[in-house]
Amino acid sequence: MGSLKDQEELEESNDAILYVNGTRRVLPDGLAHLTLLEYLRDIGLTGTKLGCGEGGCGACTVMVSHYDKQLKKCLHYAVNACLAPLYSLEGMHVITVEGLGNNKQGLHPIQESLAQSHGSQCGFCTPGFIMSVYALLRSSQMPPSEEQIEECLAGNLCRCTGYRPIVDAFRVFAKTDDKPYTGISSVSLEGGEFVCPSTGKPCSCGLKSEISSNGHERSTCEERYAPVSYSEIDGSKYTDKEFIFPPELVSRKSTCLNMNGFSGLKWFRPLRLEQVLDLKEKYPDAKLLVGNTEVGIEMRLKKIQYRVLISVTHVPELGILNVKDDGLEIGSAVRLSELLKVLRKVITERAAHETSSWNIRTTAAENFFLGYRKVDLGSGEILLSVFLPWTRPFEYLREFKQAHRRDDDIAIVNAGIRVHLEERGKNRVVSDASIVYGGVAPLSLSATRTKGFLIGKSWNQELLQGALKILQQDVLLSDSAPGGMVEFRKSLTVSFFFKFFLWVSHQLEGDKGLKERIPLSHLSAIQPFHRPPVIGTQDYEITKHGTAVGSPEVHLSARLQVSGEAEYADDTPLPHNGLHGALILSKKPHARILSVDDSGAKLSPGFAGIFFAKDVPADNKIGPVVYDEELFASEFVTCVGQVLGVVVADTHEKAKLAAAKVKVEYKDLPAILSIQDAINANSFHPNTERRFRKGDVDLCFQSCQCDKVIEGEVLVGGQEHFYLEPHSSVIWTMDGGNEVHMISSTQAPQKHQKYVSHVLGLPMSKVVCKTKRIGGGFGGKETRSAFIAAAASVPSYLLNRPVKITLDRDTDMMITGQRHSFIGKYKVGFTNEGKVLALDLHIYNNAGNSLDLSLPVLERAMHDIITENWIQRIAVELKKSPEEIREINFKVKDQYCIMARNEVCQFNAHNRWRKRGVAMVPTKFGISFTLKLMNQAGALVHVYTDGTVLVTHGGVEMGQGLHTKVAQVAASAFNIPLSSVFISETSTDKLISLCNFLSPVCCQFRFLILPQPAASASSDMYGAAVLDACEQIKARMEPIASQHNFTSFAELANACYVARIDLSAHGFYIVPEIDFDWTTGKGNPFRYYTYGAAFAEVEIDTLTGDFHTRVANIFLDLGYSLNPAIDVGQIEGAFIQGLGWVALEELKWGDPAHKWISPGSLYTCGPGSYKIPSINDVPFKFNVSLLKGHPNVKAIHSSKAVATPERIRMACLDEFTASFVSSGFRAKLSV
Ligand SMILES: Cc1cc2nc3c(=O)[nH]c(=O)nc-3n(C[C@H](O)[C@H](O)[C@H](O)COP(=O)(O)OP(=O)(O)OC[C@H]3O[C@@H](n4cnc5c(N)ncnc54)[C@H](O)[C@@H]3O)c2cc1C
Ligand code: FES
Ligand code: FES
Repeated sequence: MGSLKDQEELEESNDAILYVNGTRRVLPDGLAHLTLLEYLRDIGLTGTKLGCGEGGCGACTVMVSHYDKQLKKCLHYAVNACLAPLYSLEGMHVITVEGLGNNKQGLHPIQESLAQSHGSQCGFCTPGFIMSVYALLRSSQMPPSEEQIEECLAGNLCRCTGYRPIVDAFRVFAKTDDKPYTGISSVSLEGGEFVCPSTGKPCSCGLKSEISSNGHERSTCEERYAPVSYSEIDGSKYTDKEFIFPPELVSRKSTCLNMNGFSGLKWFRPLRLEQVLDLKEKYPDAKLLVGNTEVGIEMRLKKIQYRVLISVTHVPELGILNVKDDGLEIGSAVRLSELLKVLRKVITERAAHETSSWNIRTTAAENFFLGYRKVDLGSGEILLSVFLPWTRPFEYLREFKQAHRRDDDIAIVNAGIRVHLEERGKNRVVSDASIVYGGVAPLSLSATRTKGFLIGKSWNQELLQGALKILQQDVLLSDSAPGGMVEFRKSLTVSFFFKFFLWVSHQLEGDKGLKERIPLSHLSAIQPFHRPPVIGTQDYEITKHGTAVGSPEVHLSARLQVSGEAEYADDTPLPHNGLHGALILSKKPHARILSVDDSGAKLSPGFAGIFFAKDVPADNKIGPVVYDEELFASEFVTCVGQVLGVVVADTHEKAKLAAAKVKVEYKDLPAILSIQDAINANSFHPNTERRFRKGDVDLCFQSCQCDKVIEGEVLVGGQEHFYLEPHSSVIWTMDGGNEVHMISSTQAPQKHQKYVSHVLGLPMSKVVCKTKRIGGGFGGKETRSAFIAAAASVPSYLLNRPVKITLDRDTDMMITGQRHSFIGKYKVGFTNEGKVLALDLHIYNNAGNSLDLSLPVLERAMHDIITENWIQRIAVELKKSPEEIREINFKVKDQYCIMARNEVCQFNAHNRWRKRGVAMVPTKFGISFTLKLMNQAGALVHVYTDGTVLVTHGGVEMGQGLHTKVAQVAASAFNIPLSSVFISETSTDKLISLCNFLSPVCCQFRFLILPQPAASASSDMYGAAVLDACEQIKARMEPIASQHNFTSFAELANACYVARIDLSAHGFYIVPEIDFDWTTGKGNPFRYYTYGAAFAEVEIDTLTGDFHTRVANIFLDLGYSLNPAIDVGQIEGAFIQGLGWVALEELKWGDPAHKWISPGSLYTCGPGSYKIPSINDVPFKFNVSLLKGHPNVKAIHSSKAVATPERIRMACLDEFTASFVSSGFRAKLSV
């Protein structure tokens, strides 16, 4: 066998190739620091997105194929390109979303189906979803099951859609009849009907053709799906439009690789074990790499600098998977997906007692893990394999895991518990055991005392009670233990053991050694969770006005989004000579800046400039209403993450490296870190108190009319917006700085224009901001994007060079602020029937360190939040249901809810450890901005001589379908097809009134449960402004139109042009009848209200806090919807976002409640630590209905704008939690 010293393999090893979408690419040396994602985006394949950079969102998913010489076939799998080192793909074929299909030549069935099913809103997550399903289909010989499809999407996050339409779009590929994909139908359809991929049902769409936006005839689905063949090379199915596995890679011999990267990084790919050991000897600190999901995170997020990386994926000795007589040998470089396949196979092949359960972590845990990130490996040693012995008869092994989210990567606590029982006399006695926990110590913790206790004991209740007591001595977590949730984590350790005991006892039922039977109701503790495929219904009527309004049209950008062709700010190619910016951030919550040393940054490679407060050309003070923030902190910092300055360099990585080298010396000052601390310190932003008064509340409390008065306090937690596309701005100057232009990801281009002109001292007329679309905003890009553009503008203006700043996800979450948290303190008086007579409510809004838009947020919140909490309290007080209290106060009667409640009571009576609950919440949401000036909208409409129409308006397309709805208004106004109307972008040089809001529906429903500032009137306002412009043009056209009988709109437009009629118009709209006076509390705060209700049924595991939503029914009155399909999508997305807010998402800051986090820092700054809902959180049954037959005369075309597991567990106090909580313990269940 060779070694590095005497073999030539490594010497001739920098010939690296990679195929991307069928094209051969030679990878030059020097790129070892690059990820696959960076490389793909560098070569112009920007369809693959960067959402998080930590493997947690799936936006960067691509398919990788490689030829397995042993299996003699090609293997395909989905890979997160953001963590895959570029060279690890050497010799492989990467297919990105651009490799599937495109808008010009036709979409792939997967892309088509997603677009047609309204599964793409903002579109930023879309390519990732498509590639996950594509990889699944290419690697499956048979159509996968619906469960498999949902499972393969568990790593893809979407913040917009609520997942239901995505599941529906892909469900068709699970059908037994997979004709759309394979062309081979197992069901013969009468008359040769075509199966539509969007529905899986026969349809006639294959017979039609349609006109595309560029006027060309476009083929429809049958033509796009039909051609199918079967690959002899790799054994997978593909249509003729798909790339085959490159023949060169089948015959190509792997070579050792010896590559280099930035900053002296060395990257090796040995082919034999000896070579690995030689390299380890030569470079003792070298890191071995397999999937890079750990090392990649360490290097990118934790900023650990490794100099030498050794990829061991091609070392056969580490890739073994040997099924032996006594167990399974698993090589240390085996992929988990491969292992899973083998495990699934051996479970069916071997005797049941040998595979009672499996958990690879547990087997090695006891002796291998020595301390925090320390394992029992000496220098120069590597892990060869793990041996997993088969379980013996009466040996039982189970794994347990409780995470924030069911499919979560990181467990809060996990456990592997094993016992071997022997027959002794009439009893089953424990002869051997292992009990190992993760998440309760710096290393995998072996409960040795409990193990010692168990051995020799009979398996009975006495053993259980004794073990539960001793376990508490094994698991010692101090109150300040990192991770918090101490009581919860301790209670999980005993809950898991209890579940294990019940499970083993259940396995033993019928065995003569077991005396006690488990009560039937207790089996609820061990029932395995089964998630059925999601079923959703959408019930709405279509009321069409003209050619397009009212029709459930597909989002106008959907086809571009599914093919990865839709461009977002960061996809904009950086103009020639461009630079990348990185922000220098405060690490202190409150401090005086003593000194700044930027000498290290200036020497950093690629450095091009550094800028601080003193360099700002004009005013350093910024803010949307009050100028209380500094662009670059000058003397003091007032929060962690505050911007001190900006560094520009020739790449993003180099800019970040230089920024990290800036040394700042601070003098710490006292900091207020929580809302309660702020209230205690009387620390309020000036002039921000608001008041509503109706009647005399004090008099009512004193008058004895109230039978009962209760007081309470409720904490409403904040929420990260978690738009999938991070903040990004590209900015450049023209004419030597006389003009500044930018492309920004923002909901408010006008604010970017204003901030930039303000800090540069330029007139607003010389600053232009354009936004084509954004990858989600949800209010988070309303103002909090503008300071990033302003920061980029300073170096761009001073250096006269283009500058791009795109925030990394952790920086984005840390510095841009979130939805506010609130404290509500209430006193409510009511009668014994539940009639509310008096309410005194104080709401405090955590506005953070600058005012920003917190005042309108507070004003909005005063209309909407806290109510459900005190209604619930009244219900508890009067021993009635909340629905009864609402019925008395709001005249709502919900028979459905009462029936569901009865069913739930039955279930609960029969299940000791699982409980169900139902709730029905009504909503009433005011439509308009509370800030009156923002209730205005402008639009420009141009009619061209070919009959097509260009519309520009002040709203931003962020996935909510605003452009689609507004285009529908224009199409109906001119009586032309929707495809004749185009909306390109939003731009400040076209219109000045660019106030942007969420979609009518989306904000409305998010408000059902969320505190959120933006009003919900976009399509009302911009639709009305566009209609105004269209009506003007139509009036001018009328004299010509009435003289001739034109056969087309193009003919009419051309005739008008010839007659010198102005075919452009500016439309304008102001929302009437809003005149609320905050000083008197009188007037109309809103134009009108929309109404709705949501019903949900939830099941919880009382032992762990695990939960799932079984049913959600949503009912909303939207008047006549402009586009019911888009509105339904908004409602579903909003519901799931709200579900995340109340049940999953928890921001953790370094405050008095989280002492283990550095003061003022955000701990939850990525999808790894901050959990938004995934596909597995969608209700099993998810139904949305829009009220039928109720037009809204106040809006355009009669439309209407439309507890974490810990907390659940700790609210279920029982014998397992009793020993961990003090007598005064109160569960934190409020939201
Ligand atoms: C999005 C995401 C989800 C995750 N989900 C889970 C989850 O559900 N459960 C879970 O447990 N973890 C999870 N993790 C963590 C991660 O998967 C684990 O840390 C895993 O062990 C990493 O394997 P890898 O091959 O990708 O790691 P790499 O980064 O390639 O290597 C991990 C470490 O092992 C060392 N190493 C590799 N091979 C050898 C060897 N032969 N001998 C000695 N040392 C070696 C490396 O040097 C490195 O220190 C997740 C991570 C991410 C990013
Ligand atoms: S998983 Fe790669 S960008 Fe999020
Ligand atoms: S469409 Fe999924 S994140 Fe916007």
